[in-house]
Amino acid sequence: MHTSTLPSSAASERNKDPILNALRPLLPDQGKALEIASGTGQHAAHFAAALPGWQWQPSDMDDTLFGAIADHARQQAADNVQPAIALDVRSNPWPLPAKTRFDLIYCANMLHIASWICCPGLMQGAARHLADNGLLVTYGPYLEQDVPTAPSNLAFDADLRQRNPSWGIRQLADVEKEARLAGLHLRQRISLPANNLLLVFGR
Ligand SMILES: C[S@@+](CC[C@H](N)C(=O)[O-])C[C@H]1O[C@@H](n2cnc3c(N)ncnc32)[C@H](O)[C@@H]1O
Repeated sequence: MHTSTLPSSAASERNKDPILNALRPLLPDQGKALEIASGTGQHAAHFAAALPGWQWQPSDMDDTLFGAIADHARQQAADNVQPAIALDVRSNPWPLPAKTRFDLIYCANMLHIASWICCPGLMQGAARHLADNGLLVTYGPYLEQDVPTAPSNLAFDADLRQRNPSWGIRQLADVEKEARLAGLHLRQRISLPANNLLLVFGR
C-alpha cells in the first residue's frame, strides 16, 4: 500500500527520528517493547525496523487503528511488529497475562490527549509489566515549574482544553509523583525538538 493512502500523522513523521536517536543509547540490542497508544503505528513501524533485535507490541484503546498499524509495519518490512492489542491504560489490570514483562514500555503523546486518570493508569500498569531493569519512556509536551513554557505549548494547551476540558498538557511534577506512587522513578529528562521531552522512568 502507498504511504499516502494510510492514516498518517505529520507530527509522527517529524518526531520519529529525534525520538529514535534518543531511545537508541538507552536500549540493549534485544528486548521486548510494549507501545501504549500507538495511534497510526508510524512509531512502531519505524522503531521496530531500526531495532531488529526487538519485538514490538503495539496497542491502543481504539481498535479501528489496528489496520493502519499493521499496514505501516508491512510498508517498513518490520516483521518484528506484532498485531496490535486493545489496551486502555485505565483498565486494571491491563489485558495481559499477569507474568508478562517488557524491557521497554513506550507511550508517546497520550497523557495530554486523555483524562488525568490515564496517568496513574499508565504508571501502575507499567510498574506491573516492566522487567526488573525495564524502562518506561514517555514522549510529549510537559509543563515544568522552573522552565518557562514555550508560547506554542501554551497555545496547544489552550486548544486541547477547549476541545476537551479533561485534556491538557501535564505538569511534569504531577506525572513524576504518580510514577513514584507506582514505584517508578524519573531517571532522565531529554529535551527534543518542538519543546517536547522524552522522560525515562525505571524502578
Ligand atoms: C495523539 S495520538 C498519539 C499516537 C502516537 N503515539 C503518536 O505519538 O503519534 C493519541 C492516542 O492515544 C490513544 N489513547 C487515548 N486514551 C487512551 C487510553 N486511555 N488508553 C490507551 N490509549 C489511549 C488514542 O486512541 C490515540 O491513538
